[in-house]
Amino acid sequence: MIIDLLRQEHRNIKKLLLVLERELDVFARGDRPDYEVVQAVIAYFQVYPDVYHHPLENLVFERLKARDPTAVENIGDLAGEHRIGSERLRRVAQAIESVLADRELLRQDISDIIRDFIEHERRHIAMEDRDFFPTAVRVLQPQDWADITLRSTDQKDPLFSEVVEERFDAVRGHIIQLEQEAEAERLGALC
Ligand SMILES: [Fe+2]
Ligand SMILES: [Fe+2]
Repeated sequence: MIIDLLRQEHRNIKKLLLVLERELDVFARGDRPDYEVVQAVIAYFQVYPDVYHHPLENLVFERLKARDPTAVENIGDLAGEHRIGSERLRRVAQAIESVLADRELLRQDISDIIRDFIEHERRHIAMEDRDFFPTAVRVLQPQDWADITLRSTDQKDPLFSEVVEERFDAVRGHIIQLEQEAEAERLGALC
């Protein structure tokens, strides 16, 4: 089911935002983050959500709007939000390039750009999980979902599919580490 897929993708995106946030914290306290990981996270966002996740959501949104224009009122301009998200991501990529090229930039400005991206992505995802997806499930009919499926690509997520692109290996390692730490915290809380 398309919404299940989109929700799963949100879980994946949230893990990556956590990885990015952790590296940002390292940077913000004056240490050197793992730039390989930071760049891999940026590359992932440039490839996957922008090319697959957002277009699929846009398809669902368009169909929902056609079915029931009032149902999308509390969702707003979804495609517009995706465009602004891409712009924020571009600023993050540029900021990191500048740091690596040793250009004069304030550490605080770099931190703000990255934090701004993370916070907006989280808010956007939360809105979709809370408002957009439940409305789509309520309003759209089986024929709508069949049409959306036909028009969407079946490309697999390069990071979370079984065939993992090599350049995302570093990020995967960090995600596994985060999950292990979370698991240890859960166990610790139980003891
Ligand atoms: Fe979205
Ligand atoms: Fe989304």
